Amino acid sequence: MPSTAVQAPCPASPPRSPRFVQLHHEDQAAVREELLRGLTAPAAFTAPKYLYDALGSRLFDAITELPEYYPTRTEAAIFSAHASDMAAHVPAGATLVDLGAGNCQKAARLFEVFRPKRYVAVDISADYLRDALDALQRQHPALDMVGVGMDFSHSLALPPEARGDAAPAGSDANPVLMFYPGSSIGNFTPDAAQTFLREAHGACLRGGAGGGLLIGVDRVKPASLLEPAYDDALGVTAAFNRNLLPRINRLTGADFQLADWRHVALFNSAESRIEMHLEALRAVTVRWPGGERSFASGERIHTENSYKWQEADFAALLRSAGFTSTQVWTDARGWFSVFWAQT
Ligand code: AVJ
Repeated sequence: MPSTAVQAPCPASPPRSPRFVQLHHEDQAAVREELLRGLTAPAAFTAPKYLYDALGSRLFDAITELPEYYPTRTEAAIFSAHASDMAAHVPAGATLVDLGAGNCQKAARLFEVFRPKRYVAVDISADYLRDALDALQRQHPALDMVGVGMDFSHSLALPPEARGDAAPAGSDANPVLMFYPGSSIGNFTPDAAQTFLREAHGACLRGGAGGGLLIGVDRVKPASLLEPAYDDALGVTAAFNRNLLPRINRLTGADFQLADWRHVALFNSAESRIEMHLEALRAVTVRWPGGERSFASGERIHTENSYKWQEADFAALLRSAGFTSTQVWTDARGWFSVFWAQT
């Protein structure tokens, strides 16, 4: 700070600021290689994590406000109706690990009822997370906060800062409360979801007795309800999906033209998933340093899966991942479920 700066009155205690750990220093070459491998596959695809650059994260926030996108508000209603009942199951004074924290608002609403001792916000969009967590720390100056920038889609190896203090052997003083809301688990295939949940179970176990996972899951329902949620009239989801193209251009040096591609969302009922694609409006050849790919008119790039679950199937999945007991809350229409799964 320059010495000429006007001194603010000295506060009683210095304002706390969240610690940050940046884990995914993914090197640019590896990212480029991964993207180009998907784009040159016979059926072209990209991983959904690429949807979340700074603009993509903001577009996703806008999606959650759309009249057609029911998951966020349906889940929020379940939390408002049942938070105190949930608090009777989840451990008090826990390390609350928020997976895919985004703007951190969902977890923040639970601080009052769950009274965590530490809040660990994990997200791949690190700069966006940093801003959100800085703001949140000002509102909750007494809560210990840690931000972790990482991609946990392949492995959930949390850094030591995110695990809380080592609990003395046999003590249950440091329980881990994992929070994975929003049906983000839907991005995983059932096999990958099981692997991920096993890792989450392991991370909960490490904190000692009482730990567990609080997870939101979107349920199977008619395509007439599902598809508009992923293809809204205003075109925000289309923008969210198409925003991938300039991002791919930045990351790979490709020359995708936005005007050549349209957003497609459909419910694949055999696989029980919403699929998002980018569809070529005409025959196009996309070029990048060292390669190219031609797409026929109507050919698609598969950009996201969002699996929908039957409640009983998801409860069985949690048990197959090692959780011993599950508790579930749902909305009146039975559209969405929140599970508490205990280690
Ligand atoms: C963040 C993965 C839960 O699948 O509903 C929203 C992402 N994609 N609209 C979802 C998304 C298009 C969202 N998740």
